Amino acid sequence: MRAGIDLGTTFSLISNLESDGTPVLMPDSMFNDIYSTPSTVNISNKCASVGYLVDTLIEQNPELPVIRFFKRNFGVNQPIFIDSASNSWYPDSVAALVLKKLKNDAESYTGSKLESAVITVPAHFNDLQRKSVLNAAAMADIPVLGLVEEPVAAALHYGIAHHSRDQVLVVYDLGGGTFDATVLSMDANGVYVLAKDGLTEMGGKEFDEAISAMILDQFKKATGFHLPINGLTSLQLRRISEEIKIELSLPSKAFLKKAILIGNNAFEIMIYRKEFEQAIRQMIEQTVEVTLRCIDGAGLRESDIDALMLVGGSAMIPYIKDRLSKVITNADNKIFLHEPMKAVAMGAAIHSAQLSGDAERYDIPLEFRGVTGYNIGIQTLNPQTRKPETDCLIKKNMPLPSKAVRTYYTSTATQTRMVLQLVQYVDLQSEIINIGELVIGPLPNPRINYPVEVTVENTGDGTVKVAAYDPNTGVELQQVFGEDKLMSGNNLLAQRNLVRKTVIANLN
Ligand SMILES: Nc1ncnc2c1ncn2[C@@H]1O[C@H](COP(=O)(O)OP(=O)(O)OP(=O)(O)O)[C@@H](O)[C@H]1O
Ligand SMILES: [Mg+2]
Repeated sequence: MRAGIDLGTTFSLISNLESDGTPVLMPDSMFNDIYSTPSTVNISNKCASVGYLVDTLIEQNPELPVIRFFKRNFGVNQPIFIDSASNSWYPDSVAALVLKKLKNDAESYTGSKLESAVITVPAHFNDLQRKSVLNAAAMADIPVLGLVEEPVAAALHYGIAHHSRDQVLVVYDLGGGTFDATVLSMDANGVYVLAKDGLTEMGGKEFDEAISAMILDQFKKATGFHLPINGLTSLQLRRISEEIKIELSLPSKAFLKKAILIGNNAFEIMIYRKEFEQAIRQMIEQTVEVTLRCIDGAGLRESDIDALMLVGGSAMIPYIKDRLSKVITNADNKIFLHEPMKAVAMGAAIHSAQLSGDAERYDIPLEFRGVTGYNIGIQTLNPQTRKPETDCLIKKNMPLPSKAVRTYYTSTATQTRMVLQLVQYVDLQSEIINIGELVIGPLPNPRINYPVEVTVENTGDGTVKVAAYDPNTGVELQQVFGEDKLMSGNNLLAQRNLVRKTVIANLN
């Protein structure tokens, strides 16, 4: 079986295609009517509990250590958890446990082995974050057919579910932890990304925290003291906040009055929808700005857009459509929700059929083209000014895969290695992300002005690949890239062994 996996900040899902090409979600092997897995992990004694099982365990032991939101740590090569046997766990290896659990679910549901999968990533993920996902899959022993961006996967699913053809579509994807805007054009032959943009640390988590702040404030006003926070009360507060947020999304709810119990404290809270909207207004404004910037980045105007599709659980907040309606003309006909929490996984399953050559069999559009999300450059130090300078090799929003070649020269006769810093950036005024050191060498026959031809490629997965050649001989030069940023060597082996040795708990 080949599958599509949505590795979400808050929920993860796995999907495959039925024999007629219809994408379906595969259920949890313990809870058969549940088709998503909370991206939460407890690790204890060579055993990991993942998803709803963790919730059950917390009921019994409120102090249970739980790892959440690890997706936000992708691309940062630092441990996020130390287990009771003093093993360090990295975001990649924690993610691998979730992937292992999804693999088990899929295999027990279909009775066949998971041969390979497409995994989704936020469109704005940089090279390091994407490589974290690839690392996680390798540790979970899942061969990856390719990565696909979440909004693109959702658009693929929409295109097939609605037989939609020939249109310019904007996807507004606001999930549990990330926001992406993507502009695509679709026709009978395929799906083509025109531009993409996004925000990290923006999603349901922030909205839950806005509600939690209101609850804590009301508690303080009513009792005169702060609500005591410990493992159990913070879990209860988070759960109640999310419930309230979801209830306030119901069309008829202008306010919510509710008796709640947190720890030993029972009290009544009253939250108005307008108050919640006010609390998240600035964040939603940012998403609207990014969406308009993305349309602009595609070289289009708002009036060129045929449809604006909302996906991701948080896009169900009615204020979002209201706000977007103010900037999109004829919004009632153009803005709609499409399977907000399922389309990404099912779209990934469709893409796995595309990548494995099954598109025609299932009558799925054949072509697919992504774009670069960042400028990719090499940063050097200007010898005169001593200031860093960035040489842009691949521009943002170029069709993938994109390749560029540059020649650099040694500066002394004894120089045996060349070290170059690769960077990704949206523009030179905003954050410049160092994606790793490219160390070329040892150079054969070192001399001054030795030419080294560097090829940088942004692959179909959106990851960055490099190669170095001697342009005179055409011989490929030895190089390593990203060892300073990515998990590598013994550490990678140790993490892989740790994941392999860890059994995924199952009640059956
Ligand atoms: N009706 C609703 N109104 C508002 N928010 C909702 C609603 N239903 C679910 N959510 C929120 O949606 C989020 C989960 O959405 P989703 O599954 O799309 O995110 P994810 O895939 O885990 O995250 P990401 O894509 O950002 O990595 C949670 O924060 C959840 O509280
Ligand atoms: Mg998602």
